[in-house]
Amino acid sequence: MEEFHWTKKWEKKNADFHKWNFDLSKGPIHISWFNGAETNVCYNCLDRHVEAGEGDRVCFYWEGNDPGQERTVTYQEMLDLVCQIGNYLRSQGAGPDDEVAIYMPMIPELPATMLACSRIGAIFSVVFAGFSAESLGGRLTSPVPKVLVTCSAVRRGAKPIELKKIVDEALEIVEQSVATQAVDPSASTPHMHQAYSNRRLAEGLSSAALGGEDGSGRKGVPHVLVFDHTQASGLGRDKFQAGWVEGRDVWWQDVIPSQPTTCEVTWRAAEDTLFKLYTSGSTGQPKGVLHTTAGYMAGIALTYKYVFDHRPTDVFWCTADCGWITGHSYVSFGPMLNGATQILFEGIPTYPDAGRWWELVDKYQCTVFYTAPTAIRALMAQGDQWVKKYKRSSVRILGTVGEPINPEAWWWYYDVVGEKRADIVVGEKRADIVDTWWQTETGMHMITPLPGCTPLKAGAASLPFFGVEPALLDQAGNEIEGPGQGYLVIKRPWPAMMRTVAGDHARFEQTYFSQYKGYYFTGDGARRDEDGYYWITGRVDDVINVSGHRIGTAEVESALVGHHLCAEAAVVPLDHPIKGTAIYAYVTLMEGLGHPPDDPEAVRKELVKAVRKAIGPIATPDVIHWAPALPKTRSGKIMRRVLRKIASGHESKLGDISTLADPGVVKALIELRGK
Ligand code: WTA
Repeated sequence: MEEFHWTKKWEKKNADFHKWNFDLSKGPIHISWFNGAETNVCYNCLDRHVEAGEGDRVCFYWEGNDPGQERTVTYQEMLDLVCQIGNYLRSQGAGPDDEVAIYMPMIPELPATMLACSRIGAIFSVVFAGFSAESLGGRLTSPVPKVLVTCSAVRRGAKPIELKKIVDEALEIVEQSVATQAVDPSASTPHMHQAYSNRRLAEGLSSAALGGEDGSGRKGVPHVLVFDHTQASGLGRDKFQAGWVEGRDVWWQDVIPSQPTTCEVTWRAAEDTLFKLYTSGSTGQPKGVLHTTAGYMAGIALTYKYVFDHRPTDVFWCTADCGWITGHSYVSFGPMLNGATQILFEGIPTYPDAGRWWELVDKYQCTVFYTAPTAIRALMAQGDQWVKKYKRSSVRILGTVGEPINPEAWWWYYDVVGEKRADIVVGEKRADIVDTWWQTETGMHMITPLPGCTPLKAGAASLPFFGVEPALLDQAGNEIEGPGQGYLVIKRPWPAMMRTVAGDHARFEQTYFSQYKGYYFTGDGARRDEDGYYWITGRVDDVINVSGHRIGTAEVESALVGHHLCAEAAVVPLDHPIKGTAIYAYVTLMEGLGHPPDDPEAVRKELVKAVRKAIGPIATPDVIHWAPALPKTRSGKIMRRVLRKIASGHESKLGDISTLADPGVVKALIELRGK
C-alpha cells in the first residue's frame, strides 16, 4: 500500500473497520476500508510507473483475431491514450460519479477507457460484447449512462460481429424504457429505476431523495463513441451509415487523437465507486455489483503480486474478456498496478487453429498464463499435438478460474501445457498451477495456492489468501470444524469486497447476508480435507456456471416463456465434458401443441433463438426436454431436485417425491427424455 500514491492517507485507527458487521440483526451491512484516504486508481496504474522512468516498458502486446494483426503499447503510450479519452469523456459532461458504459472487444482501447473513467472519477460499467441487444439495453437504463463507448465491428474467428448495430438496437430498447418510465415510474423492475451514488448511499439519504431529473442527462440516450475497427473487422464505416444518428454517434478516430495527452486527475475518496458490473444471481434480473476505490485497488494489486508471484520480467496473459470480473481485476487493473507487461488477445483459442494460444505464448515469451477450465478441456480434446508443436518453456505459472477444474484437466494443464519450464535448473520442470477461487462480488482472489509455497493438489483451490477467513456451514447454519463438506461462507470483510447492489442495498443484504446470520454467503458449496484445503464443489443456488460464465436459471426461464409457444419453463444444470455444466431446459408448450410438438426441431430452434436474443449465445440451452407438466409440490413449487435427477438419468435416485401434487408427472417426463 505504501508504494501507491495517496493524496490523503487513511486514518491510522480505522475505526469503521473494527466496527464491521455481517449480522443483519445487528444493523445494516456497511463495509468500508481505508477511511479518510484519497487516491486515484488510474494514476497508480500508469502515471506512477511513467514518473519512475518506466514509460518505455511494454504495457500491452496486442494480438488481433487474425495472425499478423499486432500492436505494442508502452506505459507512456497507454497514459497518453487514457488522457485523450479522459479529456473527451469530460468534454461530454462525464464527471465524478457519472456513468459511462463500455461495449467493446478486446483491444487496448477497452482497458484504456476503463482507466480513463477512473481517472476522471466516472463510474464505468462494462458489458461483455457477447451479450445480445436486449441484455445490453437492460444494463443501460439505471441510470442511462452519459456516454456509451463501443466499436464498429469485430471478428471472432471467421465470423464478423457488428457491435454498433447491436448498440443501435439496444438504444431503441433504452429509449422505449425511458419513455415508459416517464409515464409510469413503477413500470420498470423495482431495482432498476433508482439513480444512485454510493457516496450518497453511505451518507444514508433515502432513495426517494435520489430520484428524478437532475439535469445530468440521465434520462434520454447516451452519447455514443464508436471505435472504427475497419482494419481488423474488414467492415468499413459505410456499413454503419444506416443506423448512424447524427448528434448522438461520433467516430472515435475523429475526436480522440486530437485531444491533449495530459488530463487532470480527479482524486477519489477511498469509498467512492469505481465501477459497476452486472452479474447473474439466483433470482430476478442480473444485479449491478458495485466496487469502490481504495479497497479494490489494494486487494487486486496484492493478490496479483502474490498469486502470480510478480516479477518485472514477466509477460502476463489473462485470457478473460474485460467484460467479466476476471478481466477487470487481472487485465485492466491488477497487472498495471504492478507495472506488468501483458498480452491482450482479441481472438479465440481455435482460430486459425487449436495451436494459436501456444503460438502466442512462444511469440511473446509469456511467463504467467491465466485461463478457465472450460478452455483447458476444449483444447485438451483437440489433442496434445497442438500444444507440443510449441516450446512453452517461458511459462512458470499456470492459473485457472471460473469453475471447478476436474483432475483430468488439471493434470493435462500441468503435464502437457506446463511441462517444460525453463527457469528450474534442477528437479521437476513443471509450471506451478494456481487454481483461484473468487467471484464478481469478492473482486479479488480468495482461496488459491501461492506458487512455490503451497503444495499442490489437483483440483483444489487450496488455502485462503492472507486475511480471508472462510468457513463451511451445515444445513442448519452451524460451522463445520475440521474436514467436511458444506456451504462456503466468509466470516469477515476483505478490502476488494463489493459494497452494494446498484440502487438496491436491500437486495445486497438479502442476497448475501440473510441466509446465514453473521456470514457472507458465496452461493458455492465446498469440501475441506484433512490438510485444511478447500475443494469447491460448485454452485448450490439457482445459478448455472456454463463455461465459467454465470447464468441465472430465472433469466433463461424468463427468455423461454417470453416466446409465444412456451407456457412454462424450468431450467437445471447438467454436467458437460467441456462446458463444466450445460443448460437443460424443460419446456411446457401452449395448450394443444403436443409434447413433443409436430415439428420438434423447428420449435426447438425457435426457443433457442429466443434465449440467444434475450441473453446471448452463452445462454443457449443444450437440451430442450418437452414437459407436458412440471413436477410441483402441492403449494405449486417446482421440484428442481427431481428435474436435475431426470436430466442426468438418475431417476432411480429421485428420493422422496411424496410431496408432489401429481407423481404421474415424473413418469411422463422420463418417457419424453431425448424426444
Ligand atoms: C465459480 C469469476 C471453482 C464459483 C471469478 C463462483 C470457481 C463463481 C472458481 C463466480 C474456482 C470461480 N473453482 N469454482 N477456482 N472460480 N468459480 O462471478 O461457482 O463470474 O461462485 O467470478 O464461479 O463467478 P464470477
